[in-house]
Amino acid sequence: MNKPVLRTMAMAFFTILFLIVFLLPACRCADPDPLQDICVANLKASISVNGFPCKPLPEVKSGDFFFHGLRKEGNTTNVFGSNITSGNVLDFPGLNTLGISMSRVDLAPGGLNPPHSHPRASETGVIVKGKVLLGIVTTANVFHSKVLKAGDMFVIPRGLVHFQLNVGKGKAFFLPAFNSQLPGIVVLPITLFASTPPIPDDVLAKAFQVDEKVISGIKSKFGS
Ligand code: GLV
Ligand code: MN
Repeated sequence: MNKPVLRTMAMAFFTILFLIVFLLPACRCADPDPLQDICVANLKASISVNGFPCKPLPEVKSGDFFFHGLRKEGNTTNVFGSNITSGNVLDFPGLNTLGISMSRVDLAPGGLNPPHSHPRASETGVIVKGKVLLGIVTTANVFHSKVLKAGDMFVIPRGLVHFQLNVGKGKAFFLPAFNSQLPGIVVLPITLFASTPPIPDDVLAKAFQVDEKVISGIKSKFGS
């Protein structure tokens, strides 16, 4: 091989090495970056891509950039005393390809947003009203928690199990935000005890080191 070819190959090698060593570890990305200014989701498209296809630009309206769904208090009359109103791409198609979304969580007095995780997003947010105990468990099994009041902000790294409990006298609500247009949610009690079809009782009995009757008792609380 002649010298210029060797020099080009060496430059290519070092450029790739630089990209791998310095740039890739710097990416703490969630959703991929957008490739255009606007890509309002066409939720009804028959093709499926990583996200949603864009509706044609001439059909984009001002209304596609606004969402009023988080104004209203959610109905917390359920076993947990909590309600999540989501503002993700399925509710607000203007978020498509932008890698962000929000929701609203209402908690009745004593209400619990049960232990859950988001497979595709980190979460941050601000308490708007009330007093909320927020707990996070790391993969090293360390529990971090704090009682938060209106105006306080929090962050939950992607994938970690967390919960929010209303520890105040009145109602509470907060506004979480995510670095994904569709963060996904794994609610542990529902995932484990109310999947379709159900996880076999003997699996859960062994996992929790209890009698199978205890497992069927828990499942019955979730209508399984
Ligand atoms: C709160 O943690 C939420 O995911 O809505
Ligand atoms: Mn969450």
